[in-house]
Amino acid sequence: MKTKNTYQKLFSPQSIAIVGASNKKGKIGTIIAENISKLGYKGKTYLINPAYKFLGFKRCYPSLSAVKKEIDVAIICVPAKFVLGVVKEGMQNVKNFVIISAGFSEIGAEGAKREQELIALAKKNNLNILGPNCLGFINPIVNLNASFAAGMPKAGNVAFVSQSGALIVGLLDKAKEEHMGFSNVISIGNQMQVDEADILEYLAEDKETKVIGMYLEGIKDGSRFLKVAKKVSQKKPIVILKAGKTEQAQKAISSHTGALAGSDEIVDVAFKSAGIIRADNLDDFFALLGLISFTDAPKNGQMAVITNAGGAGVLATDAFKNKEIALMEFSQKAKENFAKQLPSESSVHNPIDLLGDAGADRYQNILEMLKKENPGSTICILTPQQQTPVEEIAKIITSVKEKNKMSLAAVFIGGERIKNGVLHLKQNNIPNFSNPESCVRALDQYYRWSIFANEKTDEQKYAANADCKKIVSNIIKNAREQKRGALSFSEAANVMLEYGIDSGSFWIVSADGEKPEIKEFPVVAKIDSDKVLHKSDKQGVILNIKNSGELEEALKALGQNFPGEKVLVQPMQQKQVEIILGIKKDDIFGPVIVYGLGGIYTEIFHMADFLLPPMSEAEIKKQVLSGKIRFLFQGARGQKAYDAEEFSKIIKGIMDFALENSDIDGFDINPLFIYNDGRKASAVDIKIII
Ligand code: COA
Repeated sequence: MKTKNTYQKLFSPQSIAIVGASNKKGKIGTIIAENISKLGYKGKTYLINPAYKFLGFKRCYPSLSAVKKEIDVAIICVPAKFVLGVVKEGMQNVKNFVIISAGFSEIGAEGAKREQELIALAKKNNLNILGPNCLGFINPIVNLNASFAAGMPKAGNVAFVSQSGALIVGLLDKAKEEHMGFSNVISIGNQMQVDEADILEYLAEDKETKVIGMYLEGIKDGSRFLKVAKKVSQKKPIVILKAGKTEQAQKAISSHTGALAGSDEIVDVAFKSAGIIRADNLDDFFALLGLISFTDAPKNGQMAVITNAGGAGVLATDAFKNKEIALMEFSQKAKENFAKQLPSESSVHNPIDLLGDAGADRYQNILEMLKKENPGSTICILTPQQQTPVEEIAKIITSVKEKNKMSLAAVFIGGERIKNGVLHLKQNNIPNFSNPESCVRALDQYYRWSIFANEKTDEQKYAANADCKKIVSNIIKNAREQKRGALSFSEAANVMLEYGIDSGSFWIVSADGEKPEIKEFPVVAKIDSDKVLHKSDKQGVILNIKNSGELEEALKALGQNFPGEKVLVQPMQQKQVEIILGIKKDDIFGPVIVYGLGGIYTEIFHMADFLLPPMSEAEIKKQVLSGKIRFLFQGARGQKAYDAEEFSKIIKGIMDFALENSDIDGFDINPLFIYNDGRKASAVDIKIII
């Protein structure tokens, strides 16, 4: 079983072996051996290579078992075909391995077989294997560079985990310039056994780590990853730069909702549900890690901005649009005090304009006075005018932050003239942004994370309803046995009823069979066949049938167009609002519920949102009331509000249906009519593709 302790031994070992250690210039075995022995690691080191008795002055062993002592971790850098043998031979005295070697699942079937053999071995013998096909790891806290990246990064509080080894090297180089310090740098390679969720769990407990930054291309087990990430996010922030779109094998023809949900949007929703901060690009990623590494999360959502450049202040003001954080309103007293310290042309409203000729004193006085106003964070903007003492201002900002323990970020805008000032900020743990927009965006994301962490939401456990599951699976089984691709309307309506979703009254007839006794007109007649999924496109729907004569005509016409097919007759309901609701199957995260404005505007307005089951009804309602079609449930423009509670219950029903019937191929209700006059919502058309 994996324990905190075993990962501790893997990433912070007391002893380490390098299998394939060498002295030949430029070889990976040489570089790793040198990195471990020459950069200050104090633990015991063993070199393993049968070709040598000594490497330099250090003894070299022919194999891991020849060391005859327990070794915390072995770094393997021999060709892939020898790796299994090395692990087998060494596992008596080594339990943790890092496989640098390439030549595994990334090269195809032969490599995948090697991985399978290793996984089986690891499982049977309780081993932890990082990689293969990875760069190794670096633990700057103990001066251990067990990778073939050059040098030792500064020690600090950022843990960086990457699926790309090469990106680590680039990032570490940039980090030097940014004065960013690391607690761990881990290359996870193919994640054959130790995966990103395991690493998250380990880093959550690592006391040196304040923020976890991850570069991910794919996610191994989406639901486990989210479960772990959600727990970890409540302890410390996770910032993820996710590359690549999850490719969907979604059959867009079978459901409209499938086409509404882009896979990248699903990643957004999934990350949000787990409190993960998503970075849009490498610059953003760095900015977020720097901000979180250097400063505390905003204590509240009310921000103060001071600037010596009016224009930059305007840009900052604009940047608060659609954010959770806002520009705070200063108290009257504070504004009077600011005015006493500033020239009369200054603005004492937020952003406070110190004017272009501001010296360090104006920054200092205002920053000191701001303390009483208790802003969540303060943004200090500067542009370098001829008379601006950039470095002096940087020093003032640093000392006020230290003294008053403020959450603070700087936006020094410029190049050569601000270089030394920015250097001073970075050396003193003040995050600096090159523009107000990215500063406000990053603070907003940091603040949203802190809200998530404080909310401590319960884990949603889903309990399947066995009776309902049985009824529904019998209906689906029966249809499959008849080799049908979809359920009929009456079957689908019965399935939905099991989940509390009503479809109103209806009759199923055949064109040449008995006519139903219908007392109330108008009605609608539609073809009900798994072969005709898009009925309206194929003249399979006849609306507004006013009497039994017209009904007879309609049935005749449908019978001619679709011989032998059944016809569904429903009351013609007066529509108020049409909703579209469906399930999109995501390769990584499983079923995702999609809902939005239906009808002819579905594809045009893209007023759709996505929810990841399981969720409680209360959580669903909260999302519905803050989603894209919230206006319906808030009563827009004098309209009575639609029933958010009823709608959330329907979504909950579909979530349960999705979780209990994960083998269906597609699902949507299009349209669902909802009303604000007391009538019950009704699923007018339901497609369940099996
Ligand atoms: N135990 C210990 N040492 C062994 C051994 C064993 N069972 N079998 C071979 N060796 C030694 C060799 O004698 C050799 O020593 P030498 O360099 O002094 O001659 C050393 O291990 C390395 O073996 P070699 O066959 O020379 O391989 P290599 O150094 O050319 O390549 C890898 C080995 C692992 C670097 C290479 O196979 C590889 O996978 N490269 C890609 C790595 C990569 O990109 N990873 C992903 C990064 S993100």
